[in-house]
Amino acid sequence: MEKTITIKSPATIANLVCGFDILGLALEEPYDVMTLTRKDAPGLTIKHIDEYGLTEKPEDNVAGAALLALMEAYETKLGFELTIDKRIKPGSGLGSSAASAAGAVYAANKLIENAFSNDDLIRFAMNGEKVASGVKHADNITPCLLGGVTLIRSIHPLDIIKIDAPELFITVVHPQIEVKTSDARQILKEDISLKKAIRQWGNIAGLVAGLMQKDYELIGRSLEDVIIEPVRSILIPAFDEVKAKCIEAGALGGGISGSGPSIFMLNKNQETALIVEDIMKNIYTRVGIEFKTYVTKLNTKGITTL
Ligand code: HSE
Repeated sequence: MEKTITIKSPATIANLVCGFDILGLALEEPYDVMTLTRKDAPGLTIKHIDEYGLTEKPEDNVAGAALLALMEAYETKLGFELTIDKRIKPGSGLGSSAASAAGAVYAANKLIENAFSNDDLIRFAMNGEKVASGVKHADNITPCLLGGVTLIRSIHPLDIIKIDAPELFITVVHPQIEVKTSDARQILKEDISLKKAIRQWGNIAGLVAGLMQKDYELIGRSLEDVIIEPVRSILIPAFDEVKAKCIEAGALGGGISGSGPSIFMLNKNQETALIVEDIMKNIYTRVGIEFKTYVTKLNTKGITTL
């Protein structure tokens, strides 16, 4: 009965500056490639064919934890063999763990005739995020699975909304330092002032309205975060300079990708996205920190079969 599927699971940008834990979008690049084979014998084996030395023990592996949740919920015993070619570097802030978790359950669902809904898959995949960062959050998993821009109105109960968005070109710089999501969450303040909350609500609503109305100016001025960015940006060398110079050069706006250290900028066209990439390259070359850049687009499809 062996059946195999190979899928492409994209990187994602969580938070979108003002929407901590509730907004996210999918990128065309980079992406992980995963092959899942259904076996006759029950159980799960995982093999990594990448350079990152991640655990292959199913319950401690991000993809494994997500798959085990799906296998437990299925009425009959399942057996799978999963091969992961991770191309999204772990700890980059580009949703590497979400790509593994969402990719694994998407592939499994295809091999069991789509027995589960997207909401089920998101719930299973959140078990993988818990292994990675200690908390269940869906702001990377959801855009990874569904594509485009997504809003997580609530995770208990799960309430997911896909946001219509215009064409966007996205520039990302990944300075090669590691920021653990768990650490980047621990430094956040538990309480915020009403004044800051009001400012943030305005920005989130403005960003969602701007995306839906395809109003690039509104998108740009709503990409402001008065709560998380002032705390987390301290962990990212040259953050303020990168942001200011990219916006000056024509980027709509941007900020920390997920919990960092990657920084992203949204752009209206590819020409600006390439100018922004040059600015990022120049700054990190001068500062003397190794980096990787991507110039890519909003991915509207999410995970796809290869
Ligand atoms: N919303 C999460 C955070 C995303 O910012 O901690 C982590 O990738």
